Amino acid sequence: MGKIIVIGSASIDLVVKTDILPEAGETVMGTSFFTNPGGKGANQAVAAARLSNEVYMIGAVGDDAYGKQILENLKDNHVDTTYMDIIDNEKSGTAHITLFEDDNRIIVVPAANNYITPDIVLPKLENFGEDDIILLQHEILEATVQSVVTYAAKHGIKVILNPAPYRELDKEVIEKVTWITPNESESELLFDHQVEQALKAYPRKLIITQGAKGALFYSDTQQLIEGYKKEVIDTTGAGDTFNGALAVALIENKSLEDAVNFANLAGSFSVTGLGAQGAMPYRKDLE
Ligand code: RIB
Repeated sequence: MGKIIVIGSASIDLVVKTDILPEAGETVMGTSFFTNPGGKGANQAVAAARLSNEVYMIGAVGDDAYGKQILENLKDNHVDTTYMDIIDNEKSGTAHITLFEDDNRIIVVPAANNYITPDIVLPKLENFGEDDIILLQHEILEATVQSVVTYAAKHGIKVILNPAPYRELDKEVIEKVTWITPNESESELLFDHQVEQALKAYPRKLIITQGAKGALFYSDTQQLIEGYKKEVIDTTGAGDTFNGALAVALIENKSLEDAVNFANLAGSFSVTGLGAQGAMPYRKDLE
């Protein structure tokens, strides 16, 4: 079977829970604080590795305590870290997360994640080929995403691009990737509020995630693959779980319908515990 290669951010999440959101210039008391591994790339790698065997991560951490924690966590979750770099005299990425009511607000400081440049990544991709799937997100440099997508198209490697967080995206990149998985708000911005037309323009390629409602794509008609409702503790990482699980299902040659269903189910588990990776499911949970 092919391998999954996640190219993306690995960070430490610094999470505050609060019942009150402060206004500018205001101080409020939070209810709890915790730190845990995060970063969209690492989350997706862990989600995939809990559901399958060969998952590689290409990324970077700083030479600090957080960097060690990030690498240990990837290894503990059986993600292959051969292609992770440690950047001298640099901090690891951090995400500063406020949990308020049922949602999160996130500020990311990329730090070492900004060292994931095309010249570092492309030589590593020579170890992979046509049977493999690359999973990309938007917490790394735009130039890296563009170069990887071009390289993959040239070498027949399939790519899932999860365009999160939103940033402008060249139409050429959308044309070249195999699947693209924005959420509802990202798809509104990416396609200038012409989402229905975009779904038709990119059949079986554009998959729009809608949280607990499920995910949409177009195939002759619009297909909604319904989601699974679970009690929400923390939605952080639900989209990452969806994407990691989608890569697993697609590498196993499931149909797109079955793959999206599998990803919906995995995503629904992830909201039932605290932290991005806290409640990501294992294969046995889904079976
Ligand atoms: O998608 C959730 C992730 O986004 C968090 O783990 C945080 O690191 C941010 O990057």
